[in-house]
Amino acid sequence: MAEEIFLPENADKTAIYAELLPQIKALVSDEPDMVANLANVAAVLKYSLGYFWVGFYLMKEGELVLGPFQGPLACTRIALGRGVCGTAAADRRTILVPDVEAFPGHIACSSLSRSEVVVPLIDADQVWGVLDVDSDQLDDFEEEDARFLEAVVAILTEARRAN
Ligand code: SME
Repeated sequence: MAEEIFLPENADKTAIYAELLPQIKALVSDEPDMVANLANVAAVLKYSLGYFWVGFYLMKEGELVLGPFQGPLACTRIALGRGVCGTAAADRRTILVPDVEAFPGHIACSSLSRSEVVVPLIDADQVWGVLDVDSDQLDDFEEEDARFLEAVVAILTEARRAN
């Protein structure tokens, strides 16, 4: 397992994303325990990119249950179809929300969260969880961020299959 993450100095977001993806792959590819992998990926994303909250909810008995995360205290259970996380899992699509107040049914775990991206974790047609990234700034994410987070999720799903 890689023990350190190297980031280019003074690099823009595109360059940082390009550097991070192979390092995330190296971090998770030999470790069979997914909780360990999800925990490390949450830490890498939080400390490399400065997200306000980043973490995973895992599908258990038909609902999303809080998994490894970095950031403030979070809601523990989210029903399928509720909030941004539950909608991303039910609709099996990435959801980018520029203003959480404008999203019907948004679950306010933290009143400081203003915008977010949620990517579903799907393997063999089964939703096994979601990756949720929150910002305390309005409109803090764009398509490039969503594509990067989808690439991170693809690496995790590959590691889950391989191990
Ligand atoms: N905002 C999410 C809830 C989870 S937290 O923000 C950590 C939602 O509406 O799904």
